[in-house]
Amino acid sequence: MTKFTVNDRPVQYRMDPATPLLWALRDASNLTGTKYGCGTGDCGACTVDIDGEAVRSCQVTIAAAEGKFVTTIEGLSPDRGHPLQQVFAADNVSQCGYCIPGVIMAASALLRRTSDPSDEEIDAAITNICRCGIYPRLRGAIQRAGRVMRGEEVVDAVPPSGIAPEEAAKAVPALRRP
Ligand code: FES
Ligand code: FES
Repeated sequence: MTKFTVNDRPVQYRMDPATPLLWALRDASNLTGTKYGCGTGDCGACTVDIDGEAVRSCQVTIAAAEGKFVTTIEGLSPDRGHPLQQVFAADNVSQCGYCIPGVIMAASALLRRTSDPSDEEIDAAITNICRCGIYPRLRGAIQRAGRVMRGEEVVDAVPPSGIAPEEAAKAVPALRRP
């Protein structure tokens, strides 16, 4: 039995210890926000946070995660209001969206280290592959999220009437709770 913490909850997996973390999260925990892209550690679609570091979950066995703290896109913010989520929604950063959970998990680890990353730091930290080619607006969105985190800016999306700009991400239909 492999035990660790996922999104602040203790979990025990009765699975082969060699099972990639990605599949335990998706198939056993139904945390399907973490995506499968390549399975070879190249694309970053499966990126999660393990003990504060962005890690490609297809390359980590559940045995290797024993005793660690794993955070997936579902656990990044209890109300989906992390500055990255707000900015990505407000600035229409996503296209198909498939790569976005992995990008956001990599970016959140970066912003935890530095809320004012340079272009070079972003390029080094975000090596995720996006088939839709959102790269031109990625740096700006991450730097803007950093400014939001530092309290220098608020997200000025155009939310439906009655919803404050900082609540805009939560107003996106795909993110709305039933
Ligand atoms: S699915 Fe893990 S890096 Fe592509
Ligand atoms: S937004 Fe489509 S793969 Fe990145």
